[in-house]
Amino acid sequence: MVAVMRTEEGVFGTNALCRHMAWPLHWGGKIKDGCLRCPLHQSSYHPADGSINEWSPFPLFPWYGKMLGKLRKPSSLKTYDVREIDGYVEIDMKS
Ligand code: FES
Repeated sequence: MVAVMRTEEGVFGTNALCRHMAWPLHWGGKIKDGCLRCPLHQSSYHPADGSINEWSPFPLFPWYGKMLGKLRKPSSLKTYDVREIDGYVEIDMKS
């Protein structure tokens, strides 16, 4: 599964499962402050390179987020090369 998103910087493609606990990011994932944010525990990633912005901060109960964050080693989302031509988006699945 690939998540395709548009930010102010362009169109990007990443793996569609959160690296924290594999929540499908298309179920409520949002772009906020230029980052893709998982709705479950609020981990966020930079769309351009998939790197982590925040890992399981879970602002509602930060102590709980911190505990959950330790269950899995932080890791980045895989990214795919994406280009937009005449309104169509192409994703290089080999990248
Ligand atoms: S599953 Fe996405 S932050 Fe926990």
